[in-house]
Amino acid sequence: MLWVGTSWKMNGTLASARDYAEKLVGADASQWSGVQPFIIPPATALSEVRRVLGEDSGILLGAQNAHWEDSGAWTGELSVPQVADAGAELVEVGHSERRQYFGDTDEVVNRKVRSIVAHGLRPVLCVGEPGEVFEEGRTVEFITGQADSALEGVDPSGVVLAYEPIWAIGEHGREPRRDDLVRAFDALHDRYADHVTAVIYGGSVNRGNASGLLEIPGVEGLFVGRAAWSAEGYLEILAIAGEWVRRH
Ligand code: PGA
Repeated sequence: MLWVGTSWKMNGTLASARDYAEKLVGADASQWSGVQPFIIPPATALSEVRRVLGEDSGILLGAQNAHWEDSGAWTGELSVPQVADAGAELVEVGHSERRQYFGDTDEVVNRKVRSIVAHGLRPVLCVGEPGEVFEEGRTVEFITGQADSALEGVDPSGVVLAYEPIWAIGEHGREPRRDDLVRAFDALHDRYADHVTAVIYGGSVNRGNASGLLEIPGVEGLFVGRAAWSAEGYLEILAIAGEWVRRH
């Protein structure tokens, strides 16, 4: 099973979220058989997207973040039980934007992963190295360090582990070449594949490179930002992944 998901980051309104979810539900899911889709809207749209998806669309719904405590005086935060109440089944954690701008250290990421797993939700755990670490050839030690720390004291079996090199993410990111990723996926596969649900790739995924990325040994899915911010874009990548499954 390939895991192919998207986070919309801080984009969209209730109306656009509803429209997106309706397009997914209305599409022919046989195009992506063998693929587990997941979508991660902004928290404000979770319950509406849950309503549109219903309970048996086969598309999993996630939150972009959650606090490690269940409740309390944490102004502006949302807890795992709260995002679960709004319909989330997954919670994204450790994304480089959270680590860089919101103080999500390895310790914070580990606390969040523990809470997500304790509440029976699935973490989508992101790890990834900055450009200078990549240039120095220290990618593997960096990302396995992040993943080991995030998974400390946790049953990892429900975790979707996403390798997202920071230098490849977003509008200033550079599309990776196959050779950039082979060693990292080799190492991630050896260390985690038998223990987690899936090890996937994220960072400048698009319809042009999706199939080639899936060819890299150890890649068990894709985590997509910009190229899946429209339902059409996401459906196209799901269809490419479905086609890849049929060919293999
Ligand atoms: P991108 O984002 O596909 O727009 O590069 C990926 C991510 O941040 O997960």
